[in-house]
Amino acid sequence: VTETVAGLTRVDAGGALVTPGLVDPHTHVVYGGNRAAEMKLKQQGVPYLDILAGGGGILSTVRATRAASDEELFAAAEVRLLEMARYGTTTVEIKSGYGLSTAEELRILRVIAELDARLPISIVGTFMGAHAVPAEFRGDADAYAETVVCEMIPAVARQGIARFCDVFCERGVFTVEQSRRILEAASDHGLARKIHADEIAVSGDEESGAGLAAEVGATSADHLRATSDQGLKELAANGVSPVLLPATSFCLGDQRYARARVMIDEYDLPVALATDDNPGTSPTESLQLVMALATLNLKMSPEEILAGITVNAARAISRERDAGTLELGKRGDLVIWRAYDLDMLSYRLGVNQASMVVAAGVIIAN
Ligand code: NIG
Ligand code: FE
Repeated sequence: VTETVAGLTRVDAGGALVTPGLVDPHTHVVYGGNRAAEMKLKQQGVPYLDILAGGGGILSTVRATRAASDEELFAAAEVRLLEMARYGTTTVEIKSGYGLSTAEELRILRVIAELDARLPISIVGTFMGAHAVPAEFRGDADAYAETVVCEMIPAVARQGIARFCDVFCERGVFTVEQSRRILEAASDHGLARKIHADEIAVSGDEESGAGLAAEVGATSADHLRATSDQGLKELAANGVSPVLLPATSFCLGDQRYARARVMIDEYDLPVALATDDNPGTSPTESLQLVMALATLNLKMSPEEILAGITVNAARAISRERDAGTLELGKRGDLVIWRAYDLDMLSYRLGVNQASMVVAAGVIIAN
């Protein structure tokens, strides 16, 4: 029930659960085309990195993204973001990374800035030129990494168009050494650091993506499906936020989930959760699906899950000052749920339980 009193809208939630607006701290929602056609290969068991090495995967999305106009990229991302909002998300991090040239990466970052300016949800932009080695540099990841360092990062920093720099540190993509060079350059140019770390395998024999995240003082290390205890210990010692993406594990289909219980119980890490929304490994806008997967496969409690998509998620993208809790002085972002307690919220599967979503004090979904 809503009524207007002295120009203000008063909402009677009828005893329903109210939480802060949800924060999705890891997405790739600006891209052209889709990868539905790859599902057949996945069903046959072709590994993700093999599809990429064959010129598909991320590289197929790069071709479709380069072919799309600015307006098409904006419109497709807008649809995804408004769907997120209907599911309760009011703050979103978005990475570039389907352009893979200086001009194309800057174009995607401009679309991200435009989405932030025009949509009611709050958006944080991340530069991810090191998402894959583009066809033009095939077989020469070193030369491409050099372009990221010498050309792309300075251009991104000059335009002040991204807050973070992220790298896909993975066997067959970027090595720990290349990732280190890229993240150090990012730091020199005033960009905060993030890493796609240990998603498929631990990156080197001795070194891991998590270890590198700790070494370069990254704000977050994301995925962490293959991270050792040593890597987790280093994250904890260096204040790096872990961001877990259980919908990606689900879609990769290998039953390998990050060890959330160890992260929380042994290392007291502030575990955050995200959709990873992207056309290849996690085509979903729903943080509510992520909540259910975190319940079933990460064995997190309803309270830990709520923290993972609010306060810990805000911390993972350095937005704790305006999002993540219901507190005076923050943006007025909140969700009224079709549920009466957290237990109910995190166990339901595949349906939208948000009944009203408020962003910056304005009702954006009802
Ligand atoms: O987080 N690992 C790299 N990036 C995405 C996948 C992107 C894609 O496949 O298009 C991820 O899984
Ligand atoms: Fe990702």
